[in-house]
Amino acid sequence: MSDDLFAAANAAMAKCYAPYSKFPVGAAIRSASGKIYSGGNIENASSPEGWCAETSAIAHMVMDGQSQILEVLVVSEKQSKITPCGGCRQRLAEFAGSDTKVHLCDANGVVETLTLGDLLPAGFDRDDA
Ligand code: THU
Repeated sequence: MSDDLFAAANAAMAKCYAPYSKFPVGAAIRSASGKIYSGGNIENASSPEGWCAETSAIAHMVMDGQSQILEVLVVSEKQSKITPCGGCRQRLAEFAGSDTKVHLCDANGVVETLTLGDLLPAGFDRDDA
């Protein structure tokens, strides 16, 4: 079911730019249109200026005119069940719901599926402000 997302995330991971951490990550998003957007982490010599795979994928989605995330998958060749960092959880929450599935993987595929609400309970929402 999420095989297409897994393939897209792996293809993106292969194109990441992670010469400093040597920790490649790939992410894939299924948008409301059904289209899949993927991305890899892109690092920088000035380390805070790099960004995560999930952020790359979100940028591709938004620049293609989509703004609703239905499903997310993240993979790293170096870590089983990598989960989105705190900043990416907040970025995902901008375009997803608390019940949006986030698939965590090993090298062979999905090993656990959580929801964004599991990963970001009581997250900041401008409606709460
Ligand atoms: N990284 C991601 O791309 N996504 C995550 O969810 C966690 C961390 C990247 C950032 C950095 O390029 C590398 O992993 C090591 O921290």
